[in-house]
Amino acid sequence: MSKDQDLPALRRSDFPADFRWGVSTSSYQIEGAVKEGGRGESIWDRFCSEPGRILDASSGAEACDHYHRWPQDLDLAENLGVNAYRFSIAWPRVIPKGRGAINAAGLDFYDRLADGMLARGLQPWATLYHWDLPQVLQEQGGWLNRDTVAAYLEFTDAVTRRLGDRVKHWITHNEPWCACFMSYWEGVHAPGGRVFKDALLANHHVLLSHGQAIPLIRANVQDANVGITLSLHPIVAASDSAEDQAALVRHDGLRNRWFLDPLHGRGYPADMLELFGNQVPNIQPGDMESIANAVDFLGVNYYFPEVVADAPGVEPIATQLVERHGVERTAFGWEVSPQGMVDLLTRIQRDYAPRVPIYLTENGSTYEDVLRPDGTVHDELRLSYLARHLAALRQAMDHGVEVRGYFAWSLLDNFEWAAGYTRRFGLAYVDYPTQARILKSSGHWYRRFLSP
Ligand code: FCB
Repeated sequence: MSKDQDLPALRRSDFPADFRWGVSTSSYQIEGAVKEGGRGESIWDRFCSEPGRILDASSGAEACDHYHRWPQDLDLAENLGVNAYRFSIAWPRVIPKGRGAINAAGLDFYDRLADGMLARGLQPWATLYHWDLPQVLQEQGGWLNRDTVAAYLEFTDAVTRRLGDRVKHWITHNEPWCACFMSYWEGVHAPGGRVFKDALLANHHVLLSHGQAIPLIRANVQDANVGITLSLHPIVAASDSAEDQAALVRHDGLRNRWFLDPLHGRGYPADMLELFGNQVPNIQPGDMESIANAVDFLGVNYYFPEVVADAPGVEPIATQLVERHGVERTAFGWEVSPQGMVDLLTRIQRDYAPRVPIYLTENGSTYEDVLRPDGTVHDELRLSYLARHLAALRQAMDHGVEVRGYFAWSLLDNFEWAAGYTRRFGLAYVDYPTQARILKSSGHWYRRFLSP
């Protein structure tokens, strides 16, 4: 698909007039300036300094230098025609030691950023935790330590008090799956842990901190809209066999229900509690009630479906991911499936009937972008991915799913965690040696789509 005429015929006016159109970013991936403005060390600074952790041995030390270039980056977002901007707040900039003294320069930065958004007609959507935990807290156990919940509440209090008069949309956490399971079990994200039981414990604390933050944010922010963002996948069984079908249920239990059930007041799923046995964390009275505190929206990040097969003996739940053959993939190998977005959203609607709207807080793709000598980047594949996923979103809405906004990941190419700078997800290309931003074909398409 290289020409617009091959794309789904879809217009902005096919969506509700008050739909939120945005782009999504995160602090560690774009800010750089890790030693400026009194910022403390984060677990990602430390993780990147350990040999072998990051594919190209890079770090977010400079990233997109957004800390200095933010006015230009917000201009870029404004010029796209979006009306919302999702960003995250680096905890170590605000409370460098994790607890205690608040760093005024850190809060000032986000204060200016929020004003900058409002001045450009961008509704600020702040994520409180997009994975950059202060390293000092990691030294006390990080998310394995229940005290980190109290520390998170201190951080949340400081930030929402300062920004709450202007920032009304708050996402407590980005993707607990990644912050806990990829970080404490799979070992691929900071702090690089490899114990499944730890991931369950970390996740319990992350969900608890989410729930406990809700009344605090409401107290500090008039007319607050509070939610959490989950990375969810539609799950497909590798075959019709009873074994693979059962594997699907288990995998879905870990990957989706483990988060959706407690947030919807159902507690952790009983089948999974039984499977996990004594690995299940100690749950204190009141924890599950806090986790189920009412939110105003559910944030969903959708990238790809997962295909799963029965795998006896494979810990922790005897399943393994398999690849479908002959399907379209991004440069990460992620399956491209707009239908998966429809399946996921209609499933949430069917099984959870959420009382609050859904916002697609991330969706995007990585390809081998090439900056041509004439200064252009022709990313037709990303353009097609974007257009087809918006059509899928419209389809899910036609099936009755209440979606109120879409944020493309990402405004800019950036530091893609363990893949470093080897993967580009931006609607704008970042030429790292010069820090020039160049709108790709996909960005031009999004702008045309959004223009009245
Ligand atoms: C998501 C993360 C985001 C980005 C995209 C590609 O899991 O939330 O920071 O890395 O993947």
